[in-house]
Amino acid sequence: MIVTIDGVAASGKSSVASGVARALGIPYVSSGLLYRAATLLGLEAGLPLHQAAALLAHLQGNSLRLEPRAEGNRVWAGERELTLELHSSRVDAGVSAVAALPEVRAWVDAQLRALPEPFVAEGRDMGTTVFPHAEAKFYLTASPRVRAERRAKERPEDVPVIEAALTERDRLDTVQSAPAPDAQVIDTGPLTLEGVIEEVLASVRAPLA
Ligand code: DC
Repeated sequence: MIVTIDGVAASGKSSVASGVARALGIPYVSSGLLYRAATLLGLEAGLPLHQAAALLAHLQGNSLRLEPRAEGNRVWAGERELTLELHSSRVDAGVSAVAALPEVRAWVDAQLRALPEPFVAEGRDMGTTVFPHAEAKFYLTASPRVRAERRAKERPEDVPVIEAALTERDRLDTVQSAPAPDAQVIDTGPLTLEGVIEEVLASVRAPLA
């Protein structure tokens, strides 16, 4: 069984995916971490982030591996763990360019499709491109202001600054993640995290009841 959770940046995808995965007792898969890991390795090697062929060769040479778990995903390059380095500001700044490369997208997709089921997959294009046959699909939305207010609780910057940065990231994220036609769209604005998780679980479990 595969459950997909897509949505815009800072819509709460990974918290929701993790909560749903825990409740179901299965791992969740954070596809964004693979794009982030590709970006980190490219930056460290001094590769121009638009040079897909060189980047891809470098990724393949580093045996990059995603370890999905319900509590949080870990990423490895051989024996080296990259997980804690994947949310730095230089990775944030470079990842949209890397995620725009079709060759890198195909590589990430292949990594994801090789993972053993069941799992909850979280990202931008899980329900549309990567797992079009997933059993249950969800798409999370929220206004830039709501997302900025949530982020401001994690980081001390002003809400308007974060809101502007999020709007810019929506623009840069070339995978303008649109919901799959068979996805359930959830506006997370008026809901708590637990409320969103409950709504997803209710739909996932409905066919089983
Ligand atoms: O979800 P995140 O912030 O960790 O994602 C990091 C970047 O990767 C973000 O710029 C969008 C991109 N991404 C993507 O293009 N496709 C995915 N399935 C997941 C993430």
